[in-house]
Amino acid sequence: MQKKIGRNDPCWCQSGVKYKNCHLAFDNKISSYAAQGHIVPPHDIIKTPEQIEKIKESCKINIAVLDYIEKNIHEGMTTAEIDKIVYDMTTDMGGIPATLNYQGYPYSVCTSVNDQVCHGFPSKDVVLQSGDIVNVDCSTIFHGYFSDSSRMFCIGEVSEEKKKLVQVTKECVEKGIAQVKPWGFLGDMGQAVHDHAYANGYTVVREIGGHGVGIEFHEEPWVGYHTKKGTDMLLVPGMIFTIEPMVNMGQADIFTDEKNGWEVYTDDGLPSAQWESMVLVTEDGCEVLCW
Ligand code: MF3
Ligand code: CO
Repeated sequence: MQKKIGRNDPCWCQSGVKYKNCHLAFDNKISSYAAQGHIVPPHDIIKTPEQIEKIKESCKINIAVLDYIEKNIHEGMTTAEIDKIVYDMTTDMGGIPATLNYQGYPYSVCTSVNDQVCHGFPSKDVVLQSGDIVNVDCSTIFHGYFSDSSRMFCIGEVSEEKKKLVQVTKECVEKGIAQVKPWGFLGDMGQAVHDHAYANGYTVVREIGGHGVGIEFHEEPWVGYHTKKGTDMLLVPGMIFTIEPMVNMGQADIFTDEKNGWEVYTDDGLPSAQWESMVLVTEDGCEVLCW
């Protein structure tokens, strides 16, 4: 429950305007959804215009780093080299890689190759080979604001089967984004992602999802892809979250490397792909802030 605000009190959004002239009607609308049993967003995940501007600055760094990786990634490169590029570029632009030392994560980026689902450790022993598919997951803190996105790259000659997995996973995110609008539901997005993956014979990892982002690295809501249209959290303008499904060619089951507690693999050893976008719910739809 949120604290009750008086009509003449300053609005919770820090606009300096009286509540009755600011977010009162907005909150009443949210309350009517809550009364119908819907999950509704707490105020602290609804970003102000000022916060959104600062988060967009962070996103610019994340995009620039991934653009550079996209141009320069190649067969024979080690994933440790990618880690160094991410660290150097991010810090040169005044940012901090958000994963570095996050809950003990020891690198500036996650590089997940083939059957690695996510949180792959960059390593000088992992040399990218022709035929590999690799996810590079970047996140930045800039002046305290967070951005987070990831892309897939195909190295050298990649099989049609793996290329299709990479392509369909990207389409899953696009179809998810197309469902993001104010006064819709997170489940509208989740079902769109899910249905496209399964229609192509793939599965989607259940245990690891996207997340609210911006003020913290990981905020509410948790973003899954096994929810149905019309369910899960109500979407309202000012929410920012990631859409980042991990799509498996085989079964959805995964395991975590016990030695390091981070790296996640498919149980069946078949490849997995992931693209991650960061989206802002706007007054009339959504805006992709980072990809
Ligand atoms: N981009 C990932 C995410 O969506 C990064 C988490 S990796 C971690 O949350 F190692 F830092 F946790
Ligand atoms: Co993320």
